[in-house]
Amino acid sequence: MEIFQKYVSKFDMNDEMILLKYKHSLRVASLTKLIAKNLKMDDKAINLAYLCGLYHDIGRFMQVKKYHSFDDLNTIDHGDLGYKIFLNEIAIKKDLSPRDESTIAKAIMYHNKLKVPSKLTDNQKEYVWITRDADKIDILYQMATINGLMPLDDNEVSKEVHEQFVKYEPIDHRLVQNATDKNLLILAFIFDLKYKESLKIIKDNKFLEKLQKRLSDKKYEVYFKILNDYIKERFKC
Ligand SMILES: [Fe+2]
Repeated sequence: MEIFQKYVSKFDMNDEMILLKYKHSLRVASLTKLIAKNLKMDDKAINLAYLCGLYHDIGRFMQVKKYHSFDDLNTIDHGDLGYKIFLNEIAIKKDLSPRDESTIAKAIMYHNKLKVPSKLTDNQKEYVWITRDADKIDILYQMATINGLMPLDDNEVSKEVHEQFVKYEPIDHRLVQNATDKNLLILAFIFDLKYKESLKIIKDNKFLEKLQKRLSDKKYEVYFKILNDYIKERFKC
């Protein structure tokens, strides 16, 4: 934690974007720890999951400093950048085994990629999945709790977005045409959570109820019903 704090202290905490990512990193670290605990991992593995969460967005700080943007497509891939920063500036100061160092670096690199590559070891994949789940849960948390993150709009849901959602499929971002679609894309993160233990966090913290209070427009009702059905089904088996 000290090494993380020291690295982050080089950036301007008065910058809202930096502060947002700082707080997000700490919450995702707690979430990776919680998922690992729910998965009944041992203490060493729980700590490794925690470090994956803490450092997963380490590339964001330099990205914001350089470009003042979170737009990976038009600036730099923050997973790739974080991978390099972790290995060159963080890992050398930490007392990690080469195996743990590589696991964290891979979790950073692949937390934001479309797919988790099959070339990773099963062990590495597990930490990538935990990190991805924790990241998504925190985005849902932010949407449910932080004012101003959710633009309300008058548009109806696009047909293709609706079709993917009713099939319990994550929404392809290329289909997003308006703010309503964008909200559904984030809600559909729930379909993409790998672990039942991650869904348990959504359930235990009543995130769906909180999100529904925010998205109170009638057009969202059917989608919350679908999400509740999906969660019920996942917990039946
Ligand atoms: Fe990220």
